[in-house]
Amino acid sequence: MVTLRALAPEDASALARIYSGAPIRHTTGRPLTLTQVQEKIRAALARGAENPRAQWSWGILAADEMIGLIALRRRSPSMGTISYILREDTWGNGYATQAAQRVVAVAFTTAGLNWLEAMHHPDNPASGRVLAKAGFSRIGTADRDSETGLVSYELYALETDGHGILPIDR
Ligand SMILES: CC(C)(COP(=O)(O)OP(=O)(O)OC[C@H]1O[C@@H](n2cnc3c(N)ncnc32)[C@H](O)[C@@H]1OP(=O)(O)O)[C@@H](O)C(=O)NCCC(=O)NCCS
Repeated sequence: MVTLRALAPEDASALARIYSGAPIRHTTGRPLTLTQVQEKIRAALARGAENPRAQWSWGILAADEMIGLIALRRRSPSMGTISYILREDTWGNGYATQAAQRVVAVAFTTAGLNWLEAMHHPDNPASGRVLAKAGFSRIGTADRDSETGLVSYELYALETDGHGILPIDR
């Protein structure tokens, strides 16, 4: 069972542990320093205080320990994106799936969105499983710049009509 809560400045060292090793191989590419993590928390708190709100960031907690981060960003009035990262030693317990399911619910209620997208690095199929288990469908690919050139990320989407999740035919 995971719980989600807002970030706080004292989460910096837990977050630095998350942004190191395998989890960053297919995301930022580089481990974050404590200073970078502190800046990330500051930015998340500032964005969370904006009105209208365009970003929600939560720490993912298991057994009262912060093991990951998940974020929802509004990209247009009705469309948003989700992203997540979990500490490597906690993978394979269904934690990312539980967290993604919670954030999908917030996106389609509190945030008032009706279309969500998420993408993952092609070498990270576990993330595709997380999205599929949270109800997303693969809709194609999206090219992203990396240090080694363009990488074709796997792109997923999820739609609701306000009453439930709609199937996406592509
Ligand atoms: C993606 C990530 C969050 C997974 O977290 P997790 O808590 O282990 O995920 P879950 O346990 O909820 O689900 C993982 C699923 O992937 C599957 N899986 C694991 N490794 C896999 C692999 N190499 N190939 C295919 N599926 C794989 C698991 O079997 C499980 O699916 P199942 O329940 O059908 O068996 C974690 O690997 C991570 O932090 N990666 C780096 C960050 C990232 O890529 N984020 C996504 C971009 S937003």
